[in-house]
Amino acid sequence: MERKPFIAGNWKMNMTAESGAALIKELAPLVKDADCDVALCVPAILIPAMTEAAKDSNIAIGAQNMHWEPKGAYTGEISADMLKEYGVKYVIIGHSERRQYFGETDETVNKRTRAVLAAGMTPIMCVGETLEEREGGLTEKVLAKQLETDLAGVEDVTKVVIAYEPVWAIGTGRTATDEQAQETIAFIRKKIGELFCPKCAEKVVIQYGGSMNAGNCKGLMAQPDIDGGLIGGASLKTDFATIVNYNK
Ligand code: PGA
Repeated sequence: MERKPFIAGNWKMNMTAESGAALIKELAPLVKDADCDVALCVPAILIPAMTEAAKDSNIAIGAQNMHWEPKGAYTGEISADMLKEYGVKYVIIGHSERRQYFGETDETVNKRTRAVLAAGMTPIMCVGETLEEREGGLTEKVLAKQLETDLAGVEDVTKVVIAYEPVWAIGTGRTATDEQAQETIAFIRKKIGELFCPKCAEKVVIQYGGSMNAGNCKGLMAQPDIDGGLIGGASLKTDFATIVNYNK
């Protein structure tokens, strides 16, 4: 298969330098023979210490957000150069928690995504519908609109990782079924094909996210269009290694 699977953790606002480094030391030997790419997206302040903790491992350290401007009066934001200084490769953009609680819009997701690409890093760009939207039969409409706006002006879509995260499945213990996730991710791939080109769409790595865990990862990863996972809660413990080794 042309697409290399990619399992990324999203620590959200959890861990400290001490507990984070201890977990990375525990995970490193467990994931060393992984067949997929592995990353942990950690709180910005932990990036230096986690980069150090992960330095002899195959765990890449990622960030959870990035501003589109190179520098300036943007209190609380992080720039591309600040991340690149520590060798950050991946940046989560447009997570539903940022959209829900911090005023992130499709327009700002688009600006951030393009800035991450321009800086030579890989955005893990999140899209997903709410429960109300799914129950109202609006899932495809909502995703199409998000993809159109969030990816506008992107030159090479194959450099973007998409995380499909149904909002109703995040942190709720309620996972999309294998079939629901497959069906929706296949739709996302088709839509990317229409917006860019079908050949490019075949190359785009698309993750599933939302209560993915050691128990359900095998079934999800067996789906033809699901290329990986964005893991919240289960990335805070050694279960993350079980998910990374889903095929062993
Ligand atoms: P969860 O979070 O695995 O805890 O549901 C996933 C995410 O929000 O990326």
